[in-house]
Amino acid sequence: MTTKWIVEDKEKENVFWPSEEMKKAAWVSDPKIYDEALKDQKAFWAEKAGALHWEKKWDNVYEQEPGKPWNFKWFVGGKINAAYNCLDRHVEGGKGDKVAMIWVPEPTDEKPVKITYSELNKKVNKFANALKKLGIKKGDRVGVYLPMIPELMISLLAVARIGAVHNVVFSAFSGESVKDRMEDAEAKLLITANGYYRRGKLLDLKKNADIGVEGTPVKNVVVVKRAELDVNWVDGRDHWFHELIEKESEKCESEFVEANDMLFMLYTSGTTGKPKGIVHDTAGYLTQAYWTTKWNFNAKDDDVFWCTADVGWITGHTYGCYGPFSNGITQIVFEGAPDYPDIGRWWKTIQDHKVSVFYTAPTAIRMFIKAGDAWPKKYNLESLKILGSVGEPIDEEAWLWYFRTIGGGRCPIIDTWWQTETGANVVNTLPGIGPFIPTVAGRPFPGIDMKLVDEEGNDAEMSGYLVEKPPFAPGMLRGIYKNEQKYIDTYWSRFKNLYDTSDGAKLREDGLIRITGRVDDVMKVAGHRLSTGELENAINEHELVRESAVVPRPDKIKGEVPIVFALLIDPSKATEETKAEIVRHVDKMIGPTARPAAIYFVDDVPKTRSGKIMRRILRGLVTNDTNLGNVTTLMNPECVEHLKEVVGYGG
Ligand code: WTA
Repeated sequence: MTTKWIVEDKEKENVFWPSEEMKKAAWVSDPKIYDEALKDQKAFWAEKAGALHWEKKWDNVYEQEPGKPWNFKWFVGGKINAAYNCLDRHVEGGKGDKVAMIWVPEPTDEKPVKITYSELNKKVNKFANALKKLGIKKGDRVGVYLPMIPELMISLLAVARIGAVHNVVFSAFSGESVKDRMEDAEAKLLITANGYYRRGKLLDLKKNADIGVEGTPVKNVVVVKRAELDVNWVDGRDHWFHELIEKESEKCESEFVEANDMLFMLYTSGTTGKPKGIVHDTAGYLTQAYWTTKWNFNAKDDDVFWCTADVGWITGHTYGCYGPFSNGITQIVFEGAPDYPDIGRWWKTIQDHKVSVFYTAPTAIRMFIKAGDAWPKKYNLESLKILGSVGEPIDEEAWLWYFRTIGGGRCPIIDTWWQTETGANVVNTLPGIGPFIPTVAGRPFPGIDMKLVDEEGNDAEMSGYLVEKPPFAPGMLRGIYKNEQKYIDTYWSRFKNLYDTSDGAKLREDGLIRITGRVDDVMKVAGHRLSTGELENAINEHELVRESAVVPRPDKIKGEVPIVFALLIDPSKATEETKAEIVRHVDKMIGPTARPAAIYFVDDVPKTRSGKIMRRILRGLVTNDTNLGNVTTLMNPECVEHLKEVVGYGG
């Protein structure tokens, strides 16, 4: 029988505490840590940063420009390299033969590949040398558009090795999305693959990549040969990854950068139509990635860690690359979809590789619930010790199913709240401390100070806007690429001297936080972050569309799905064929993740007198909310009655 890490609170329903074994096994088990860390946050993080390798120690632990809360810096003057901390440190420390990564390809006739830390280090160095030869220097932006194959992590670490900046684009995003991001980031080079497998199909990624670099500053394209697939080739611009690294040396000196130099940028959706290039620094980000991996998942040397998120998203950056590698543990990298060749694939993977930490999203859990208990029951999941959840609020049913059916009632569920902007976990429950309660994320990680405020920024007691107080956590974003004003407007203007998360939350009497969700126009579709504005922009670009409005509708599996209201230039084109065209257009402009679940052709959408679309009313209509609110102040209140018919409101 495997150890029970968690025990039920007999007095209260669905409240769980760490067992004595868990407390003993945990890195931290004394709740005093929270108060102690807050007493002197700078000293806390300085001590924590000391666990990393520094080429030169920092001169000043934290600096804040007076009157500009958004302009803060950690570990000023320190010199560090992220790849060194993820690789060389372990190799030099005698862990070179330890498996860094077990890559599980999607096709079941391909064998999993184990790569040790020393092998990974050599590959990273070879590729880093190749990048240098292609003219990449410190600070240059390098686009990465790859599926979940080892070369993805190799690329990130090789870019970091030479002090350049990676800019990953999710492989399911379209060529147009790549193009926007390469243009905005002024990227010099793009790393991609000739193809990849998704649900048994071989997809031509290079075709999208070609669209993605056209007319951008990208001069060179490096192509990983993932499959036997002939692709379009541009001589002089395109280079095979395997041919480039063949000639290179296994050694490459690390470029030690200043702590606040950029490690990466990652585009994410906000309220406005255009994705923003979120900028992360090197040392602060790595410090929080390292410690949250270690403490939240109780990462130990013998763990097999599996974060199922694609590296195209922040979760994959932090818990599929920098977190596990900086901790020197073994992690699973999985290429495929969770339901291919069948919906037992993930459970089989846990069994085959004895996964001990499993970190996934509520949307996946809900999908597994629907598929039935028989699938996980076919496999031995006793290696699991800790389960994680991320990306959206987890409902009680999903929590309890995850806890009982996957964790066998033994494993705590670490519900981690955070954002692309925060870089790493912020609110969660430490496994040795607890309590673990469905739908309750927990407390701010030690050394981070959060609170709830009302509309005016006054302290709110029970429910309000979730904000972070200074000093801001080391993993926090340092800006929006080339757009300081947008950075200030988005995160620092609503509340004085506080970081605005755009999430609402409730505070329980015991001080634990329950996240209620976004308060802006950001949707979470199957855990993927999308903005209504971005979708509207894309749809409005279609030649048949005059205007559109997009709102989220709750969905049993995906959490939320986008619903489109479209006004056509020629109303006689309101056909099923036009709907299909709009869907294809969204695929082309953003990618299939943003596909509308329903499209309604309408004559008008509710607007304020100043012409702003009232998404609140549309949201009420698609959710059958009995209280649509006051519609009399609209510019066009009469349209609401018609819309009710269109969506079958009240039916
Ligand atoms: C939501 C993903 C509730 C939240 C790491 C946040 C969550 C947004 C949780 C960021 C959670 C993330 N409980 N909500 N455990 N984790 N969110 O940038 O609304 O893709 O603002 O980062 O996801 O999404 P992003």
